[in-house]
Formats: sequence, structure tokens, C-alpha cells
Amino acid sequence: MNTAAVSRIAHGELELYNPLSAADLDRAIDLLDLAPGSRALDVACGTGVALRRIATRWEVRGTGYDRDRHLVERGRRAAPAGVELVVADEPPAGPFDLVLCIASSHALGGFPQALERLRELVRPGGHLLLGEGYWRRPPTREYLDALGGATRDELADYGGLLEAARSAGLVALWSCAASEHDWDRYEWTQVLNCERWAAEHAGDPLAEDVRARAALARHRLALTGGRETLGFALLLLRRA
Ligand SMILES: C[S@@+](CC[C@H](N)C(=O)[O-])C[C@H]1O[C@@H](n2cnc3c(N)ncnc32)[C@H](O)[C@@H]1O
Repeated sequence: MNTAAVSRIAHGELELYNPLSAADLDRAIDLLDLAPGSRALDVACGTGVALRRIATRWEVRGTGYDRDRHLVERGRRAAPAGVELVVADEPPAGPFDLVLCIASSHALGGFPQALERLRELVRPGGHLLLGEGYWRRPPTREYLDALGGATRDELADYGGLLEAARSAGLVALWSCAASEHDWDRYEWTQVLNCERWAAEHAGDPLAEDVRARAALARHRLALTGGRETLGFALLLLRRA
């Protein structure tokens, strides 16, 4: 399956490839207090929307990288001055004043191992904006299957997420989490995009996979606890 292409179809015009609301992201960006000329890195940035918003709000020089050239090209068309988006699957050399890793820790080895690599990319006293999933309740086997074959140890609960950051030498300064409303908007926008695209492209080789993605999401959401199992938090962390 062409997972990246199916994901792009599912997300459609969604800017953020995670359930956070734009308002919550902007609240975090307002809190950053970045000095002019600060260097920022966006890990597995997708279209680099978080980095682009930061560069519009603060005078930073930003680099974002992602392995999906379609997303990088889309992001470049909207990038303000000072933001460079590149196609790559490894980060450039640091350290940076600010590192963003939002729904992207899998690009650095997955949670919690990625936290060590992220800390190394941030200068001492610099900041990390981490968007990470967590278990709001223990996932059932059926739920993990309905996530497409996830495993329970891929994530922690909220306390475990904070503890993993602390033990990686990162001090939590602020956090917010996606609400059920945010999750409904994110999941159901993708279902709608998939169903409409598959109906309009019935003969396309991707149509079956696109429709299967929508069906799996509906199944997951309909399970007991299906709308209350997965959480997503945004954390502002400082390297100790
Ligand atoms: C869920 S999306 C998140 C994108 C963006 N951070 C956001 O929140 O909108 C995960 C991204 O990771 C990228 N990715 C996965 N593995 C990668 C790797 N090793 N190097 C670079 N990008 C990677 C994918 O192409 C995808 O754009």
C-alpha cells in the first residue's frame, strides 16, 4: 500500500496532520518568546505548518524536513521568508534554539527513544515543542488492531509521557491536549475525504485502500471506549 499517498488523500486540505486545533497550536506559539534570529528545526514537518506559523509570529530562521516531497512542495509554496523546507529523512546538525516534533517521533525511532535524540538537537536552555500521543485509558487488543496494528508500548499514559520527558532531561513548562471535539473533527474529516475521493476515483488503484482506511476509522470509533482511548498532547519543554 502507498501509505503516504493514502494519508495525503485522507488529510485533504487539513493543514495539521494531527488532531490539535489551530487555536491550541497558536497559544503554544505565543508562549515561545523567541529572540530574533533564533534557529528552529521542524522534525518530519509535513507541510511545515507549525514552523511557518512560528516564523510569521517570531523572527526566526527555520528549517523543516520531511521525507514526503509532495508535502514539502506544498509547504514551500506558503513558506514565509526565513523558512526552508527540505526533503530528507534525517535531521540536519544542531543544536537549535527550538525543535518542533509534532506527531513525528516515529521519524526519530519512536517514543520514548526519540526524546534522547530530540534533546541532543536542542541547545542547553533551548525549547522543544513536542506533540505526542498518549493512552487516555489502556488500549484493548481490538483497539490496537483497529489502529492498524499498533502496540501498547508505543505510547505511555499522560503521567508516563511527562515522566519520559523528565528522565530525558526535559523540563515540562506548559501543555494542552486535543479535546474530543478536536478528535471528532480530525477523524471524521478524514473519513469524509476518503469516502468522497474513493467515490470519485472508483477505478483508481488506491481506491480500495482509501475506502479501507475510512472503514477502519469508523470501526475504531465505534468500539467501546473508541473515542476515549487515544489522546494527543502538545508539550512545551526546556532542555535542562
Ligand atoms: C503525522 S505526520 C506529522 C506532520 C507534521 N509534523 C504535522 O504535525 O502536521 C508524520 C510525518 O512524518 C514523516 N516521516 C515519517 N518518517 C520520516 C523520516 N524518517 N524522515 C522524515 N520524515 C518522516 C511523514 O512523511 C509525515 O509527513
